[in-house]
Amino acid sequence: MGRVDSASVVNVADLREAAKKRLPRVVFDYIDGGADAEWTMRENSRVFDDVMFRPRSAVATASVDLRTTVLGATLELPFLLAPVGSSRLFYPRGEEVAARVAGDAGTIYTLSTLSGCPVRDVKAATRGPVWYQLYLIGGRDVAIGGIERAKHCGCSALVVTVDTPVAGMRERDVRNGTRELVSGAPFTMFPYLFQFLARPRWLAAYLRDGGLMSFPNIVLKDGPMPYADVAAALEQSMVSWDDFKWIREAWQGPIVVKGVHTADDARRAIDHGAAAIIVSNHGGRQLDGVAPTLRVLPEVIAAADGQAEVLLDGGIRRGSDVVKALCVGARAVLIGRAYAYGLGAAGGAGVARAIDILRSGIVRTMKLLGCASVRDLDRSIVHVPAEWLNR
Ligand SMILES: Cc1cc2nc3c(=O)[nH]c(=O)nc-3n(C[C@H](O)[C@H](O)[C@H](O)COP(=O)(O)O)c2cc1C
Repeated sequence: MGRVDSASVVNVADLREAAKKRLPRVVFDYIDGGADAEWTMRENSRVFDDVMFRPRSAVATASVDLRTTVLGATLELPFLLAPVGSSRLFYPRGEEVAARVAGDAGTIYTLSTLSGCPVRDVKAATRGPVWYQLYLIGGRDVAIGGIERAKHCGCSALVVTVDTPVAGMRERDVRNGTRELVSGAPFTMFPYLFQFLARPRWLAAYLRDGGLMSFPNIVLKDGPMPYADVAAALEQSMVSWDDFKWIREAWQGPIVVKGVHTADDARRAIDHGAAAIIVSNHGGRQLDGVAPTLRVLPEVIAAADGQAEVLLDGGIRRGSDVVKALCVGARAVLIGRAYAYGLGAAGGAGVARAIDILRSGIVRTMKLLGCASVRDLDRSIVHVPAEWLNR
């Protein structure tokens, strides 16, 4: 396991380096990469520079309250863990490990449909709430099976991701032979296998955990979907607004729509029953060239008009990024790569380090701002470019 103590890992960029050292290239790049030229992915982080703080000085804030509520649940932190598919590739039982650490920290873990651990095991591994993220892979009946299992084991919200009609073009994955490696065909895999041999500690842990897996939350007629079929399956799993009718009927609980960029889609999501919206471009992994999420947050908040809770993800690497998103108006944010790097670097200890880095960054930023509670963060504390508000 890599070292992730506070002296050697000071920020999320350090966690990223530690993950790079432990993971084979194909796995690290799967986490780290984005679509096409990766412009949107980079912009998601860079755009936080466009928002500047306006602190209230000489305000004594001895303690800072980070608690917030999301869909009625009280969280100890204003950030949740986003769905990150195939986390079990990063670390043995990866989804269970990340969920346990999220629960211990007092926040929500979101489990992807495309996970390596079954939803009931993930729910049992944590004392915190679990949301279930839905892809319609395998069609309606298969999706309903997943919804039923998530409901049965007590997941508290269903996150429907709407930005994945096809998988984005992740050029790094093509170069690293992702498709060939999941084919299971020895001759096809052979040229790409050496990257595993360069990471023997990861390889040993991966093999001990069962090696190349299927997707236990996608139960087809003849059993869990094998890894080899994922690209083709995604392309046949488009979700459209019409699907929300049967999804609502099957789930009968709060629905979160993930992947909204515009006022129009925010209103559409609400019309189709969304209790919350996640302003998200999938971490720049889907449509490259779409605006960074913080930039479109004001537009979506205005359109939601208080009828749905508005969350944001994309590019969050520092506590100050979380504070800026809350000041602009997000109720809470989700983190993806920040914790995925931690999981890849050192399992639960790495996820805990990611959460600590963000938590302490939020506390410090809020003390410097003279703000004692996340509920008091608003636009008076930041300078937001005027054109963001005029759309
Ligand atoms: C490795 C990886 C896998 C992901 N898998 C999924 C997924 O299965 N479903 C989904 O809705 N989003 C998925 N996402 C997107 C995240 O939920 C989230 O939107 C994104 O990571 C946020 O950006 P950030 O990584 O810059 O924090 C994935 C992201 C990464 C990095």
